[in-house]
Amino acid sequence: MVRDIRKIGDPVLRRKAKKVEKVTKDVQKLIDDMIETMHAAHGLGLAAPQVGVLQRVAIVEIEPDEKVPGSGTLYAFINPEIVKVSEETWVNQEGCLSIPGWRGEVERPMNITVKALDRAGNRIKLDVEGWVARAFQHEVDHLDGVMFIDKLVAPDRMWRVKEGEEDKEAAG
Ligand code: NI
Repeated sequence: MVRDIRKIGDPVLRRKAKKVEKVTKDVQKLIDDMIETMHAAHGLGLAAPQVGVLQRVAIVEIEPDEKVPGSGTLYAFINPEIVKVSEETWVNQEGCLSIPGWRGEVERPMNITVKALDRAGNRIKLDVEGWVARAFQHEVDHLDGVMFIDKLVAPDRMWRVKEGEEDKEAAG
């Protein structure tokens, strides 16, 4: 079921999501709905607060691209913790399904290690890099009520996407 994506100004986006105590069928249904919602919106990631659910659940899926390590894989993660970040950082643009039509430049660590539960409730540990690492960090921020506009490299490094091009540069 496609759920409504909450937009900036909705207070739910600024609250801290709660840890999932048990991976129940409801959590799995939430993940299924989030996947449908992300696909319908042509996004590359989605966090549960963006559909109004204050639980620490997020997904990432970057379109397959041989130049992008980890692309083409659907990651669903519960209670994620970023346990390691690289010193190396990079600046690139981000967009957010909750801030439609805007992009901004954000600096992020290039490589991260994430511990989480998968959708079956199994403990997982992932090393991700580049765009996948960027998307993970963007989604984990959402779980703490943080949005990319809080992290712009400079206040003026934000711009509107040209009409009709929203889908070409996916947001999360
Ligand atoms: Ni977002």
